[in-house]
Order: sequence, then C-alpha cells, then structure tokens
Amino acid sequence: MTIDGKTEVYGVVGYPIKHSLSPVFQNFAFQHFYVNAVYVPFEVRPENFETALRGLKALNIKGVNVTLPYKEKALELADYVDPHARSIGAVNTLKFTDEGVYAYNTDWIGFLKAVKKLVPEIRDLKTLVLGAGGSSRAVVYALKVEGARVFLWNRTKDKAIRLCEEFGCTVVNRPEEVLDDVSLLVNTTSSGLRDEDPPLFDYRLLRPDISVMDIIYRETPLLRTAKECGCKWQDGLDMLLYQGIESFKIWTGLEVPYQVVRDAVASYLL
Ligand code: ATR
Repeated sequence: MTIDGKTEVYGVVGYPIKHSLSPVFQNFAFQHFYVNAVYVPFEVRPENFETALRGLKALNIKGVNVTLPYKEKALELADYVDPHARSIGAVNTLKFTDEGVYAYNTDWIGFLKAVKKLVPEIRDLKTLVLGAGGSSRAVVYALKVEGARVFLWNRTKDKAIRLCEEFGCTVVNRPEEVLDDVSLLVNTTSSGLRDEDPPLFDYRLLRPDISVMDIIYRETPLLRTAKECGCKWQDGLDMLLYQGIESFKIWTGLEVPYQVVRDAVASYLL
C-alpha cells in the first residue's frame, strides 16, 4: 500500500506496547478493504498520557485503541462514553471526531464472541472468574449481561468483594470451593504470563467437563494442564481478535472477517 497525503492514521496507545499484536492485524484489515489508512503503536509513558491524547487530536489521528495502563484514564478524559464502557469502568477504543472524543469498550464483546465458541449457551451457566482487575470487569460484565451465574476469586479479597457488589456475583475464598460446581473457568489474572508463576490453585483438580479460558494469549500452565485433563480450552487470542474487529467496525463501519485477522496473526507468529 502507498502512503500518501490522504492516508489516515490510527493506532494503539499503551505502556509497554512492543508486544502488541494489534498493529499486525489492524493493518491487514485496512488492506483487506483497500482503506487508505495505517495503524501504528504509540508507546506513551504514564506522565505523558494526557499530553499524548491532546497531541493525537491535534494531529487529526482518527482513532486509537488504549491498553494497559490507560483504560480507566481514557474513560475520564473522553467527551462521550458508551454506556457499556461506563458500566465496566474502562475503555479500549477512542474515536476522534469534530464533535469530540467518543470512547467505547470492545473487550467485553470480544470476550463474549470468543467464549461462545467454547460454550455456546451462557444463560444460567455457572462460571468461576479468577481475578478482579480491569480485564475481569469486562469479562464479568459480559457474563452477567448474558445471564450467567458468576463466582469470583481474587488474590486480594477486598477487590473481589467490591467487584461482586457492583456486578452481582459471589465471592469465593479459594477457587477449589466451587470447582466441582462450575462449567466454565476464566482466568483474567496476569498469573501464567510466565511459566514460573506459581499456580493459582492445583490445576490437576480440573474435571474434563469444565471449559477453561485464559485471556492471556499463550499456552499458560493453566491451559496446558486443562488440555492434559481433557478439558475444552481456549487462549486469549480470539478475544483479542474479536475486540479488534469491533474497534475496526466503530472506526470504519466495516466488518472484517475473522479469518482475515486470524491469518494475519498466524503468518506473523510463524
Ligand atoms: P488487567 O487490566 O489485565 O486485569 P490489573 O487491573 O492490574 O490488570 O489486574 C491484575 C489482576 O491479576 C488482579 O486481579 C491481580 O490480583 P490482585 O488484585 O490481588 O493484585 C491479579 N494478579 C496479578 N498477578 C497475580 C499473581 N501472581 N497471583 C494471583 N493474582 C495475580
């Protein structure tokens, strides 16, 4: 693709950002539709976030994803916030317009689309969510919107209690307490990013009829054991791709096929 005077600029703002896969597949999506636009990473230090946001507007950037650690801050600074994003308390997609900055959360939609490939029917599903950070809020929100029953465990119990009061779920003291009762387990903590992270519970206790999702997009020790135990499982790549497809739709009105973004990432990771 030729970059010329009319090329529009999109991107992703985070710190750190070098590991992000979003530029890989968002650029493929633009190319798929012959849209004259590029998507670039913006590594912005925390002390510069507000200045960077003003700069993005001044430079006529059309839209960005925001990722860690800016998902809450971006919500505060936006002019218009989508009601789902407001309920979740975090945004991951900004659209810059002449009227102001519009903010959305597509993580919860990405999670729902991904998890439904693992468990098609969510209503009344008993689910255990591990973690009570920003990602957990999007996951729990999505599960509650679909009518699931959510049990929640977090290392810091106070945060679990607060999140459960807000979203109407049930705190557990240890994951083991409800393992025999739930059909879906979702890890939203960052434990498992490295193989040496201590396990959150004894993963060998997983029964084969539990479906296990880890929102980290690598094979974590949890997923490895889930496989060994005969569970259905899914890593975080589909959630990432589906949230990206939704962001792209917000910016362009176009729906990029899942397989296009999946192939883009697969050929990059080869
Ligand atoms: P994110 O937006 O990715 O959710 P976050 O808001 O910083 O990031 O939340 C991180 C989550 O991972 C929290 O639930 C955190 O638990 P605490 O609330 O107790 O800090 C959890 N977490 C991170 N490292 C963990 C570990 N080694 N063991 C257990 N939980 C961990």
